Amino acid sequence: MTTTNTSIRKAVIPAAGLGTRFLPATKAMPKEMLPVVDKPAIQYVVEEAVNVGLTDILMITGRNKRALEDHFDRVPSLESTLEAKGDTTKLEAIQAASNLGDIHYVRQGDPMGLGHAVLRARQHVGHEPFAVLLGDDLIDARDELLSKMIEVQAQTGGSVVALIEVEPSQISAYGCADIDDTDMNGFVRIRKLVEKPEAAEAPSNLAVIGRYVLHPAVFDVLEHTEPGRGGEIQLTDALQELAAGEGEGYGVYGVVFRGRRYDTGDKLSYLKACVQLACDSDDLGPGLREWLPEFTASLAK
Ligand code: G1P
Repeated sequence: MTTTNTSIRKAVIPAAGLGTRFLPATKAMPKEMLPVVDKPAIQYVVEEAVNVGLTDILMITGRNKRALEDHFDRVPSLESTLEAKGDTTKLEAIQAASNLGDIHYVRQGDPMGLGHAVLRARQHVGHEPFAVLLGDDLIDARDELLSKMIEVQAQTGGSVVALIEVEPSQISAYGCADIDDTDMNGFVRIRKLVEKPEAAEAPSNLAVIGRYVLHPAVFDVLEHTEPGRGGEIQLTDALQELAAGEGEGYGVYGVVFRGRRYDTGDKLSYLKACVQLACDSDDLGPGLREWLPEFTASLAK
């Protein structure tokens, strides 16, 4: 566990998306429950939050999301069956999912965008900085990101986004940041944020990925943020207002992440993430690594 000297305890995980990219797999099952190797994708995200001390977790859910609550709940009957069989490995695996922090749920109601989902957390979060973790991005547990962002929030008193460098042709899939040149002790100041710009209009190739540490001033801004790209209330637009303005809780900073990130947001990226993480796993890695070169060689024939 990375210990972070912080008072931040709350994490918000938006999970109300319909998962249409994965249909028909997600017809009756939340996309967050799709397995990545041997755990649902959402469990990696909750573990990441808990590992940096964010043990008060609020999930923003919607219809068809009951499986999420069930997954993080205890199943006494299954526990006793495994206990009776002496299968401690599986027992520990199912208990691990129900011992992760204190998880709360609120429904989004109308799915009106990420900004709207985050605003639904206002009551629970109150007036303190908090983290937002999007389930489509998995950050390798061996690489540091969220703890660094929490430190930067404490140091600056503003809000912090995570950035990666992408190929210019990819930027239209992300929020894009225009930054000051100076990299002050591992973080940058953001001048401007644009949601999913066309490549030709993008101010940089720095893309916002799904980790945020936000000052609660963002809630006041979200209250009046008009629908933006795609007709949705965009978190990026609210953060742009915080980046451009002045006052308590204003100012937006970026931590540029160069570690391992796995995107599970569309089918192809999801499949790649599964293979990458399985290659790293102790039990499946050796067999998969042996088989993969044989398989790719057979494709070339
Ligand atoms: C959201 C944000 C976008 C950000 C992305 C990161 O978009 O709106 O700014 O770059 O997450 O994953 P989405 O991918 O939900 O469309």
